[in-house]
Amino acid sequence: MTSIEIRQSFLDFFEEKEHKIKNSYPVVSYKDPTLLFVNAGMNQFKDIFLGLQTRNYKRAANTQKCIRVSGKHNDLEEVGVDTYHHTFFEMLGNWSFGDYYKTEAIAWAWELLTEVWQLDPNRLYATVYRTDDESYEIWKNYLPENHIQRFDEKDNFWEMGTTGPCGPCSEIHYDRTPDMSGANLVNAGTPDVIEIWNLVFIQFNRKADGTIEPLASKFVDTGMGFERICSILQGVNSNYDTDIFTPLLDKIAELSGIQYGDDEKTDIAMRVIVDHVRALSFAIGDGAMPGSTGRSYVLRRILRRALRYARTLGLNEPVMYKLVQTLVDSIGECFKSLIENQVKIEDIIKNEEESFLQTMERGMEIIEDIIKKLKQNNKDTITGEDAFLLYDTFGFPLDLTELIAKENDIKVDIAVFNKRMEEQKERSRNARREVLQEIIPPNIDAKTEFIGYDNYRKYIVAKILYAQDNLVVFDKTPFYFESGGQVSDTGKFSSTDKNVNRTNNFNIIGAKKSGNAIFHIIYSSKEDFDISKYFKVGDSVKVKINPVNRRNIMRNHTATHLLHEALRFVLGEHIQQAGSLVTADHLRFDFNHFEKLNNRQIKDIESIINKQILLGVSVITNIYPIEEAKQIPNIKMFFGDKYGEEVRVVSISNISIELCGGTHCKNTSEISLFKIVSESSVAAGVRRIEAITGEAAINYLNNLENEIENKNKEIEELKSQVKHYKKIEEGIKKAKITSEAISMVGAKKINDIKVIITQMELENLDQLRTVAEKFRETGRSGIALIASVIDDKVQLACSVTDDLKEQYPAGKLVGEAAKILGGGGGGKPHLATAGGKDIAKLNDLLSTGFEDIIKSFA
Ligand code: ALA
Repeated sequence: MTSIEIRQSFLDFFEEKEHKIKNSYPVVSYKDPTLLFVNAGMNQFKDIFLGLQTRNYKRAANTQKCIRVSGKHNDLEEVGVDTYHHTFFEMLGNWSFGDYYKTEAIAWAWELLTEVWQLDPNRLYATVYRTDDESYEIWKNYLPENHIQRFDEKDNFWEMGTTGPCGPCSEIHYDRTPDMSGANLVNAGTPDVIEIWNLVFIQFNRKADGTIEPLASKFVDTGMGFERICSILQGVNSNYDTDIFTPLLDKIAELSGIQYGDDEKTDIAMRVIVDHVRALSFAIGDGAMPGSTGRSYVLRRILRRALRYARTLGLNEPVMYKLVQTLVDSIGECFKSLIENQVKIEDIIKNEEESFLQTMERGMEIIEDIIKKLKQNNKDTITGEDAFLLYDTFGFPLDLTELIAKENDIKVDIAVFNKRMEEQKERSRNARREVLQEIIPPNIDAKTEFIGYDNYRKYIVAKILYAQDNLVVFDKTPFYFESGGQVSDTGKFSSTDKNVNRTNNFNIIGAKKSGNAIFHIIYSSKEDFDISKYFKVGDSVKVKINPVNRRNIMRNHTATHLLHEALRFVLGEHIQQAGSLVTADHLRFDFNHFEKLNNRQIKDIESIINKQILLGVSVITNIYPIEEAKQIPNIKMFFGDKYGEEVRVVSISNISIELCGGTHCKNTSEISLFKIVSESSVAAGVRRIEAITGEAAINYLNNLENEIENKNKEIEELKSQVKHYKKIEEGIKKAKITSEAISMVGAKKINDIKVIITQMELENLDQLRTVAEKFRETGRSGIALIASVIDDKVQLACSVTDDLKEQYPAGKLVGEAAKILGGGGGGKPHLATAGGKDIAKLNDLLSTGFEDIIKSFA
């Protein structure tokens, strides 16, 4: 059977069993923030399991595109080294939503494998979760007991991620050993016996605090490794020998002139490349892009890893993109996103390849040199500095450096690497500020139209009016230029001419106005950079600002207006703005006020602003002739500022009306959340508030929560330490008491019996009892009365050895003794306690009282 037929026969089988056949979800997970990529067929059904959604069908089946390179399920390290793990794979699955359960799930799996696909039952093993007797019993209908094995959480309790649906599972493994001797190889990490199908019985939800809660219904969630089942049904020992991979391997063989199967080292390289090109193509086809953060960086890492292996094959030019055609030819019919986006996929991959290859060669030389030196000096760790150099200068993702290190039995100092990363982030933030301050644009005769109040999500096409060094001026621009305390936008531009090399994508880190022209400042790491080498006046370009950055700036700017009003409301009408800075990270507002704000005032300010955010008030901008604007009641304008004939008025309902040229949210609800992070003094009579909004505020609260959690953990640890030391202290005391009890020598002889009458300093009844018990354990014959003043009361314990307890029952003795103290008590004949309040009588009891009591029992 071909892989296309195998996929279809799975779907047909379950369609016959009344399953609704669903399409694969895009492999890029946009909906679920706990995932970067879809990692299992069940992801699209997660909300049904959690009871948040319902469907009008109770059974479903599909093949799902999956990527496992991050988070809980991450197979990256094995990929290519072995023959059955992948970054990208298809998962065949069938689901029951509160409908059938274990019996049917197992029966149908068995039917499909052994009847439809005719697998030899002697080669099948089932595993069950260690306590899942129910599944074990069901499997006994199909398999002898020596083919059913129990495993613990690691293998047989499936979880989607650190949070989300989970439950015990039962896996089916296939034994490929020629003599069917694989019983001990189940879950042993060998291709000889491999897991092919996982039947999960979803019953729980793992919550963020790590606990699990039962779900309202029970679900079946199965997942079969498509490439693996193909290898079995096609009678080959490796996924790479199936018709899914052979066309790709043939192509890479053609490109490199090396045959697959010639040599272990080049085989691994070829496997990595054909695996990785699938992950990249499917992810890009579904809308992802290689880049420098999050999901995008995962793709960049995969691509760079592949290129490192291509080098092993002697391929030092872009090759990955050349495999896309082969992939589309072989599998495009099943996944249309590949056909539809083929050109885009090829372009993006090629671009990425070109940009990395420019520095990779040199980076490889450097790392080889580093490793050589380490070995010469008998060292085994690449320093964090070196790893950072490779990352920063040569674009080596950390895991690429780790991979190369591992091949040489060397480690990488990750802690220091991470520290350098943090420092670099801080540096680049500062550097950007400095660069912008230093640049003074020339005076030129050009005019730029600012069209960025609304056009900030899309590319706009503009004409170049000036291009020199790292400055460029367009005829129109979406870039807000630094003014009125608001920082400029950041973004990029490139040529509209398709024939121009696409790597010529220039980053703009700021914009400044001079005369009528808006100068855009281009970032380049090269000292002698000159944009005129790439563009001339009159060229047409595509220009776009970074919309995420812009939105954050807008949040902070609108929040600044609200803050100004809230301050006047809480502190008084005297509040005047003395300075303001609006950036994407935060806002800073200086104002005249005579004293430090107290906590109450800060909370009130926050709450007034957050209320306006919750209300979702419209923010409206209008242009007015200046004279008309001046008539608007309560309008804020800054005396001393020069205004033109026409002015822009930003009104947040009638709460705040201000003359302002800045960019703003359309509605206060876009701010999401407002949080003050500091209040300080900048000069006599001038205070400063720094605040954050939106995602920054949410992150801030999350961090606080983490800190609290950590502090709580510390407290718990301290508490348990205190408990521990108390126990030790208690133990020491007990030991002391014991030794005192044992050494209760010098007893009186009364009626020829050894009697100890003593007072001890004890803390509680427990200790008193212990002493009394220890007395009996000494093995000597006798009676002991131990008295101790505890909590303003005399407590007595009387202990009588077994040979005497009939005649001198402890309970009675101690009862009589307590009477002398105005109290009472009693107990067993061998050991008893009692107490009395009359401490003054204790001496009587000890000197003669108890002696008399003993005598009265003679
Ligand atoms: N969700 C299960 C898995 O991924 C079937 O193995």
